[in-house]
Amino acid sequence: MFENLAQGQLFPDELQKSIREKFFYVENDPVMGERLFFENAGGSLRLKAAVEAHNRIEALPDNPGRLHATALKLQDIQNTGLDDVRVIFNAQSGSILTSLTASQVMFQMTGAIAENIPGKNIVTTNIEHPSAYDAAKMYAEKMGMEFRVAQANPRTGGVDVEEIVRLIDKDTCLLSVIYASNISGAILDMEKIVAESRKIKPDLHIIVDAVQHSPHGVIDVEKLQIDGANFASYKCFGNRGAGFGWVSDRVATLPHDRLLEKAADNWELGSTVPAMYAAVSEVVNYVCWIGSQFNASQDRRALYVEGMTRIKLHERALHHRFLHGSQAVPGLNDIAGVTVFFDQTDLTVRDFIMAIAIDGIDYTQAVKEYEKEGVIVYERITSSLYSKRMLESCGMKGALRVSPLHCHTVDDIDRFLSVTQKIARSFATH
Ligand SMILES: Cc1ncc(COP(=O)(O)O)c(C=O)c1O
Repeated sequence: MFENLAQGQLFPDELQKSIREKFFYVENDPVMGERLFFENAGGSLRLKAAVEAHNRIEALPDNPGRLHATALKLQDIQNTGLDDVRVIFNAQSGSILTSLTASQVMFQMTGAIAENIPGKNIVTTNIEHPSAYDAAKMYAEKMGMEFRVAQANPRTGGVDVEEIVRLIDKDTCLLSVIYASNISGAILDMEKIVAESRKIKPDLHIIVDAVQHSPHGVIDVEKLQIDGANFASYKCFGNRGAGFGWVSDRVATLPHDRLLEKAADNWELGSTVPAMYAAVSEVVNYVCWIGSQFNASQDRRALYVEGMTRIKLHERALHHRFLHGSQAVPGLNDIAGVTVFFDQTDLTVRDFIMAIAIDGIDYTQAVKEYEKEGVIVYERITSSLYSKRMLESCGMKGALRVSPLHCHTVDDIDRFLSVTQKIARSFATH
């Protein structure tokens, strides 16, 4: 299948240009002026349409739970947004959760399962974001269950299927596992993890942190047959203040915080935020628009999958150029003094996040050197609670995380490579 193209495929030039124009601040921002933003894993470049829709709808004072025309319009926006969140997950059943952050959603899903599904242990991995890891640990302690942690594979920066499956038994209450690492970019083999785990416990509850995978790849909860997943709008071209989740039918009706007069599978608590739904619909509109350049389908999910697949292919082509460069500029693999962490031979199992190091310069200093050159990257170091466990699990003290987005071009990558060459050269002589 074309989605497995080893070196990916760039967008056609015209499309690339149109894509770039749809984002705010790709080339500069109001504070720094001209700059390259390669820190999308910390919050992605924003779609103009999502920000504008959010502001447009947020300006309206109306409560959507009323009967007048504006309120009905807000209800409409909300219902469309909910459908669009289902498009992102491919959720044909179950319930949607909304919250300020993806972390809150993760704690809600974990808690409902841990408190209500009998078992003696909870399994997770040591490359989880603290929101998933701590939720699993906290609820394991609360329910008197054993907390089991699968170890990372330092070569890939992911976790091997067997390493997870060896911890599952008939008494496992919950498996909580990350889809793709926010530090290494490794994508976990979710289909196999689910299939092999359920060979041991056929009705095992499984939830997936899809926050870092959602801007780079397709999520399909129906295909995976999992019980929960989440993503954060601000990491997926949208706005801050909107964490989304989905739970399966069997989790949806488990006891959870809710207004008791509402349906047992309702997870929305308090006043809803129509602007948040308007923004997420714009994200889906956008990905479908990319899909429609390649696919004549009228089906929104089919267009979304096509769009996301094209995004993935473009990012893979850029990723390849990062590593291997061109006649014009050497790739990261060939710049003296640069280390690229984790096995980058098969880019089909990696999202577009890279971890590198430069000889002679620590990570925090390197971030500053890049900033001087007008490039934003981020250091992941062990003094940060968000990075410590994962870095140590791979035997690392730190890494420079480089995370561009599909709206970037080959020229952006080449500029980054030239800057890297300059920094590496200058510190090699010290
Ligand atoms: C993999 C992963 N999961 C969860 C989160 C938490 O998302 P939020 O900031 O919306 O709580 C993050 C944020 O960095 C993340 O990278």
